[in-house]
Amino acid sequence: MRIDVITIFPEYLEPLNVSLVGKARARGQLDVRIHNLRDWTHDRHNTVDDSPFGGGPGMVMKPEPWGEALDAVTASGADAADTAEAVDGAEAVDAADVSERRPVLVVPTPSGLPFTQELAVELSEQPWLIFTPARYEGIDRRVIDEYADRYDVREVSIGDYVLAGGEAPVLVIVEAVARLLPGVLGNAESHRDDSFAPGAMADLLEGPVYTKPPVWREREVPEVLLSGHHGKVARFRRDEAFRRTTANRPDLIERCDPAALDKADRALLAELGWEELPDGRFGRAAPAVEE
Ligand code: ADE
Repeated sequence: MRIDVITIFPEYLEPLNVSLVGKARARGQLDVRIHNLRDWTHDRHNTVDDSPFGGGPGMVMKPEPWGEALDAVTASGADAADTAEAVDGAEAVDAADVSERRPVLVVPTPSGLPFTQELAVELSEQPWLIFTPARYEGIDRRVIDEYADRYDVREVSIGDYVLAGGEAPVLVIVEAVARLLPGVLGNAESHRDDSFAPGAMADLLEGPVYTKPPVWREREVPEVLLSGHHGKVARFRRDEAFRRTTANRPDLIERCDPAALDKADRALLAELGWEELPDGRFGRAAPAVEE
């Protein structure tokens, strides 16, 4: 996969050199290119912002540098010469794939669609992502409209809070996407039980995990995990997942597909004070009304 990031703070993206993403880059599985937006300005002060039409606080990012930057970066898709080469037999970034397919433009903004595991999976299946993290009050809208005519543009929010810019969201999104690429995580099974992963534990948060030693500061690892009984371990983990999900994300339980709930799940939810509704879903039992 190829990833381009256009930013006024290239140094903010340095974490992409370390850990999982850094290793995927070193192995040639990920071709990450960071660009300085100011390289596409032409005035003495390398200006990228201006005051908003219609008034109001803050500054807006000017369309011209973004337009030039996006034209240059999208046009560089055909340039296969500096595409990373695979080492150690790892799956290489496929230069032909990149040049033949259009990039997906990912625009981090608090006004975007929520970033979910589902979107991470979808983005991980693309050959090429271009990120446009903004500062100030955002980018002149015409830039988004201009490229939405030609490319798949995704405006994405990483949560209901406002950051000072889109660079931290880029780090978040790239890490969530990169770990899903084939061969990037050491153990391909590792994402099977992830919270929010589609599959057996769908719609449940992952429960607690333990490692050696079996006793630490007089705290014991739950005995069932040492039993070697796979069925009991699976049941324990599922129960813990339900406990955590009911406590931290009751909305996920309310949305849970009733067909995904077995008898033991239903019994546990009832024990935790949840009520089975006529359609088989579960809802929080109404608090008792005082007389
Ligand atoms: N830029 C500022 N806040 C953001 C958020 N919550 N998500 C994505 N981009 C942002």
